[in-house]
Amino acid sequence: MAKQNPIILSTWNFGLQANQAGWSVLKEGGAALDAVEAAASVTENDPSITSVGYGGYPNEDGVIQLDAAVIDGKTGRMGSVAALEGIRNPCAVARKVLEKNKHIYLVGEGAQNFALKEGFQLENLNTPQSAQWYAEQLKKRSADQGHDTIGVLARDEEGELATACTTSGLAMKWAGRVGDSPIIGAGLYLDGKIGGAVGTGVGERAIEVCASFAIVEFMRNGMSPQNACEELLRRVVNRHRGRIDFQLAFIALNREGRFGGAALQEGFEYAVYAGDENALRPGAVYGRDFQ
Ligand code: GLY
Repeated sequence: MAKQNPIILSTWNFGLQANQAGWSVLKEGGAALDAVEAAASVTENDPSITSVGYGGYPNEDGVIQLDAAVIDGKTGRMGSVAALEGIRNPCAVARKVLEKNKHIYLVGEGAQNFALKEGFQLENLNTPQSAQWYAEQLKKRSADQGHDTIGVLARDEEGELATACTTSGLAMKWAGRVGDSPIIGAGLYLDGKIGGAVGTGVGERAIEVCASFAIVEFMRNGMSPQNACEELLRRVVNRHRGRIDFQLAFIALNREGRFGGAALQEGFEYAVYAGDENALRPGAVYGRDFQ
């Protein structure tokens, strides 16, 4: 088969740095699965990004519990971890689940035990900044509810697709709360023959509509990635009878290398690295760019 043009896209402006790492893999002919994991780990390791990995948002107990998942379009295999404590790279642990475990989901202590068996190091994921942020939240009547997940989609030069999603989840969440990011079909979904989708925003709103699965099904039925993201958000708006006081945003990529992104609220952007250019794009906004 003729070589394809590689592409990688990631949610939010911090996706630019993540894409750099993923592109280094893709431009050397590496696999999409390796690229999305490399991209996600950049964000997980960066304590200045306070919604993912090391230095992420603590839960109500002040503990950072991480959620992540990966899907490999080439093999159809998936791995996912949720409420994982003390391991800064949950995406890499999810990748190990995909490769080595007969199950797809591991959570909490079981996920941590698996990670330790695979050689991951236990550490305190709180930074002085996250500990201070938590102390400030405890003094407030109503805590902040930040949630800027990184979701990554890639196509390699063999034309194979992969996706990854990693987050500390909603700030000040209940201990043990699992968001959309590790839920296959909600925060991310990918069919190697069609395309993939990955999201960011309030996880519960994505879970209740099987959001990423729906976007991939819309693409299977002929929609472009852009139209598929918008159609899903229309469905969310209808479900909530037009009352959208939360953010939800998705990006999608199909097997042909076409992509799109859309959000319920202003402010969502995503980074696309293709053809030697890494650039931010605004997501189309419901009510302004589409209805
Ligand atoms: N989308 C991140 C979360 O709700 O956990």
